[in-house]
Amino acid sequence: MRFDILTLFPDMFRGPFDESIIRRGQDKGLIQIGLHQIRDYTVDRHRTVDDTPYGGGAGMLMKPEPLAAAIESVKQLNADATVLLTTPQGRPFTHTLAQELSLKPGLIILCGRYEGVDERIHQHYVDHEISIGDYVLSGGELAAMVLVDSVTRLIPGVLGSDESALTDSFGDGLLEYPQYTRPPEFNGLAVPAPLLSGNHAEIAKWRREQALRRTAERRPDLLAHAALSAADRLFLRS
Ligand code: ADE
Repeated sequence: MRFDILTLFPDMFRGPFDESIIRRGQDKGLIQIGLHQIRDYTVDRHRTVDDTPYGGGAGMLMKPEPLAAAIESVKQLNADATVLLTTPQGRPFTHTLAQELSLKPGLIILCGRYEGVDERIHQHYVDHEISIGDYVLSGGELAAMVLVDSVTRLIPGVLGSDESALTDSFGDGLLEYPQYTRPPEFNGLAVPAPLLSGNHAEIAKWRREQALRRTAERRPDLLAHAALSAADRLFLRS
């Protein structure tokens, strides 16, 4: 998977993309990341990327010409890529959307800044507008990092077998069960007995029930779309 990121702040990405899973994905050749400075696609002396909105109002908009030139140029590196724009007006980002995006041949992510982007860029170039939550960030860069991280984890071979994305929260539509490591007692709190039993069926049952309980308490909205067995439904009614 190739990611190309169009931004006014490429340096924001260099530290985060040089660590951990994203570093490993690049080292294994499973992902490639291109960072592109939108300002490099301006043609005026002042390298202008923004302008005031028609009709008045506060703030500045990103001008269409440098963005269009940047997208056209990056499309040559990333043929068949899906073009994303990070914006609070976008479709809410979820695990399901991350899975959909992980199947694409490539992604071009346009990071919005200022008060937004000229609407003609949305109309002409953008396949999906994506929001990572109902709050406003100073720009789309952090949202782009969230997209790259969560999609990268889903690309086969990026995670080791001991880190399977399947048992993560949302892998099966539920929140994850609580986890414990040594010591068996800490601050007067014991590790739940089923986890110490060595009985795999008992452990699996306890974990499933804990995941169901947690999801019911914290995110009941998720239960409507989770794959639930008859035993799961019985447990939730108990
Ligand atoms: N840009 C600013 N806020 C954002 C958000 N919540 N999601 C995606 N992009 C953004």
